[in-house]
Order: sequence, then structure tokens, then C-alpha cells
Amino acid sequence: MGGPNLIVVDDHDALSGAGAAFVADVIRERPAASVVVATGRTPMGLYADLAARVRAGRCDPSRITAIQLDEYLGLGPDDRRSLFGWMRRSFLGPLGIEDERVVRLPLDGDLGQACVAFDRELEARGGLDLAILGLGPNGHLGFNEPPSEPSAHTRRVRLSPVTIEANARYWGSVADVPTEAVTLGLGPLLSARTILLVVSGEAKHGIVHRALEGPVGPEVPASFLQDAPDVTVVVDRAAWGDA
Ligand code: F6R
Repeated sequence: MGGPNLIVVDDHDALSGAGAAFVADVIRERPAASVVVATGRTPMGLYADLAARVRAGRCDPSRITAIQLDEYLGLGPDDRRSLFGWMRRSFLGPLGIEDERVVRLPLDGDLGQACVAFDRELEARGGLDLAILGLGPNGHLGFNEPPSEPSAHTRRVRLSPVTIEANARYWGSVADVPTEAVTLGLGPLLSARTILLVVSGEAKHGIVHRALEGPVGPEVPASFLQDAPDVTVVVDRAAWGDA
């Protein structure tokens, strides 16, 4: 055990480089890896750096399967706020991942049943190899909002006011942020063979210390990373502080 492996880097650029090197290593070791892909601001430089490695022939992601982490509910297919659209622009397109190598979350029909089927499909594929995650201001992973149990399945969730406020940075205003979403569950996420958490900026200082050093429990879903088998956290100095 021993808890997460912590890598503190100078700034967001260094985080992107270290994160991309880490992901490229996992893909080298497991070329057919199932990889969960977070959106959000923090991993954007990581994805750009990874794409540069692909263009330079230093990383070959052509056999990975990309797994969607979360998506808002109630949007039309071409809505500018679609998290799948963001994943496509930042990861799938730049890395050249074909549509048939992407697993998307269910968004309609009997969502309860569809989410159960989704988790079964992940299991049938042999589980997740790598989850690339960011940290919510309230300690969420994906949209596993507090409180979330470590066994939580993939499911429909209501976004908390804190998350809606944080997501307003992406889309303009609080009124532009959908209030419901589907998230890959904490259960399948925490079972990933390898987890990479990237954390950047002063605003995450309190929550990253709370998640990695505070009590483990549902009120800070990311605190369960303390007990997961293979977790690496790349955090910049602004978020970690001088400690
Ligand atoms: C995004 C997601 C969220 C973000 C988190 C941090 O798909 O699942 O959990 O990773 O809210 O977002 P940023 O990186 O924008 O601070």
C-alpha cells in the first residue's frame, strides 16, 4: 500500500509534460489499455502534449479504448456544452482515436438499466487500465459528488451548487450549466489498475490536501484514492504549496 505516489511540479506546463509522459508510459506497457478520459481544464495541456508525442511518433495510442467519464444530461447532440464534444476536440481528434474505440455513457432510455449494463460491459472488457482524472473543488471525481460511496455504480446524478459554480467557468454563467449528469461510478473508477490525478492552481490547495491527507470517507470522494492500489498524483506548486 503506502498511498498515492505524489509528484509535485513547478507549474501547469510541467504538470502537462509529466502527466503526458506518465500516460505515454502506460500506453507503451499496455497498448490496448482502456483509458478513462476526464474533461475539465486541468488535463488540457496534458492531452496537447500527448498529441505532440503521437505526431512525433513517440506514442502510439491506436489500440487504446477511450472511456467517457461523465456527461451532462438534457443537451442536444450538437450542444456546445457537451462533454463528449470537449473530449472529441481535446483527446480523440488530436490523438486520432477512431469512433469504434470509444465507449460512451448512456444518456437516454431507461438510464438506471443502461448504467447497470454499462458497468457490466466495462467488467466484461476486463475493467479499466488507466483513469485520467481531475479534482473537483468539493473533492468530486468525475461527477461523483459528495457524498459518494466507494462502491458507487455508474448513475444519474444531480450536480451540487459548488460544481455548477465551478463549471460556469467553462460555459459562461451558472445559468448555462446543466443541473444533471451521468457519471462513471466511483466503484469502477477506484478499481482501475492505474489512476492518474492531475491537480493545478491555488484554488485546489485546500481540497488536494484534504483528499490526500484527511480522513477517508464519502464526504470527500477523492479521499478514497488513499486506499486505491496504484495512484499517481501530479500536482503543481500553486495547488500543493510549499509544504
Ligand atoms: C470532468 C470531470 C471533473 C473535473 C473536475 C476538475 O470530466 O469529471 O471531475 O475533472 O471538476 O475540473 P478542472 O480541471 O476544470 O478544475
